[in-house]
Amino acid sequence: MATAIVTGGAGAIGRACAAALVEDGWRVVLADIDGAEAEKVASDIGAGVVAAYGLDVTDFAAVHDIAARAQARHGPITGLVTAAGGGRNIALTNGPFIETTPDEWDRNIEVHLNAVYNSCHAVLPLLFEAGKGAIVNTASGAGLRGGPPHLRQRHASVYSACKAGVIALTQAISQEAGPKGVRANCIAPGRTETRAKPIEEMERMQREEEALKPGSGRASPLGRFGRGRDMGDAAAFLMSDRAGYITGACLDVTGGIRLH
Ligand SMILES: NC(=O)c1ccc[n+]([C@@H]2O[C@H](COP(=O)([O-])OP(=O)(O)OC[C@H]3O[C@@H](n4cnc5c(N)ncnc54)[C@H](O)[C@@H]3O)[C@@H](O)[C@H]2O)c1
Repeated sequence: MATAIVTGGAGAIGRACAAALVEDGWRVVLADIDGAEAEKVASDIGAGVVAAYGLDVTDFAAVHDIAARAQARHGPITGLVTAAGGGRNIALTNGPFIETTPDEWDRNIEVHLNAVYNSCHAVLPLLFEAGKGAIVNTASGAGLRGGPPHLRQRHASVYSACKAGVIALTQAISQEAGPKGVRANCIAPGRTETRAKPIEEMERMQREEEALKPGSGRASPLGRFGRGRDMGDAAAFLMSDRAGYITGACLDVTGGIRLH
């Protein structure tokens, strides 16, 4: 049976990716800086999750160590979904680009770009060893175009740069990995529930914003925000053989929100 590592596996998107992969028959190894929450997610999902590790994905050596351990205990590893990040562990102030600080830039890049480098760097050799496999990196609608304005999203300028970097990195990896039987793609979520912000809270905030500025246009034409499950299904599709001829792609899962 195929085994995949899911980083950020305790988060809203990572958890949903893990659940969707398990439904598709994958065995899943969860890794998240919040190891206790990852354990809880593992017991919620049940038998398909074979391990839950506490892991800071910004730590290059630690990521390599967990990948090697997962391969030794549960391998061969043939899949990777990177879904760590979010604002939870990097306290960012809000403000326009010229008010961002180099320190905030570094922290954002660490968790949203360097961590993807670390994870792909550690897992790709295992996929090459297996001669097959798939990677799905979590980018963002913000990486498909610069923005949104900082009023909508904390540190949108730096965040956009990170996520555009994830998309380009994934495209480059797909070129090297294809001849070795490995595909690499991204999902680009739009406004989606998080651990800290469930859908109801997002809807409440939107009502407040609409009251301040009617027609502010933040909603998807589908009339709702993204659920973790929407992202999990998209990632599981890209990880599956049904996507066997898709590599280097970035699947827009913004519910059409980025078109306006
Ligand atoms: N929610 C959205 O609207 C949205 C939109 C576009 C992209 N994304 C991206 O999706 C990914 C997942 O975010 P989410 O919405 O599920 O948020 P979330 O806060 O629910 O989950 C993020 C998870 O990442 C973990 N994490 C953070 N820093 C880590 C680190 N250094 N090492 C290991 N784990 C770490 C957190 O503990 C948390 O469990 C992020 O990369 C985020 O940028 C989210």
